Amino acid sequence: MDDIRNIVILTGAGISAESGLATFRGPDGLWEGHRVEDVCTPEAFARDPDLVQTFYDMRRAALAGVEPNPAHHALARLDREWPGELLLVTQNVDDLHDRAGSTRLVHMHGELKSALCPACGQRTAWESSLVDGHACPACNAAALRPDIVWFGEMPYHMERIERALAGADLFVSIGTSGAVYPAAGYVQTARYHGAHALELNLEPSAGSVWFHESRMGPASELVPLWVDEVLRAA
Ligand code: APR
Repeated sequence: MDDIRNIVILTGAGISAESGLATFRGPDGLWEGHRVEDVCTPEAFARDPDLVQTFYDMRRAALAGVEPNPAHHALARLDREWPGELLLVTQNVDDLHDRAGSTRLVHMHGELKSALCPACGQRTAWESSLVDGHACPACNAAALRPDIVWFGEMPYHMERIERALAGADLFVSIGTSGAVYPAAGYVQTARYHGAHALELNLEPSAGSVWFHESRMGPASELVPLWVDEVLRAA
């Protein structure tokens, strides 16, 4: 992999699994006990806001008990030391990349530690419960909702992500099943623009067929090794 300058990295729930946060489609999948359509759609929120708020309250509260793992820290080191362009696109709504120190980072599915006003669109940093109907501090016209992209809603940062993919020399996918679009299609976009595509995952994914190379194993082992390798070649 010579003359790599611009890197795009996509992460999914698998990179946070070793920190103790459940993935979505694994044996202990996060959806256990909840059907996706019961908690992660605008219709579910309209139908039963307290159920949806409580689902996210539990996930937000769980963040206090977990720490970034060596995979998050290795990507933060790459963020500090990589001389070229770098964009870390995470599907995760946890704050582990942020706490590890990654800055060239976008949360395409939103963030648990943020609340969104459905009326004015203002985002507010939020650490506690949203169940009791907190009015928007900016417009006071509506109760805040989780700042999470639900099924049927548009992911965030789409234009910035597409621009980065168009210029990438290397696309690395870490800890994602390749089950949900548009993220699942990013490897194809990157390859269309000539990027080398590398997958680091615990097991083969729905997207493995699109990668030049797939390395199977836990992210906390594979990611630090890969960061060492790519920085040595920089
Ligand atoms: N190291 C590396 N990969 C792992 C590890 C680990 N320790 N543990 C699990 N994985 C892999 C699994 O093999 C699986 O391929 O991580 C992937 C997790 O897949 P999902 O649970 O489907 O999570 P993700 O791909 O992030 O889901 C995408 O779907 O439900 C929506 O919005 C939600 O952002 C989420 C999106």
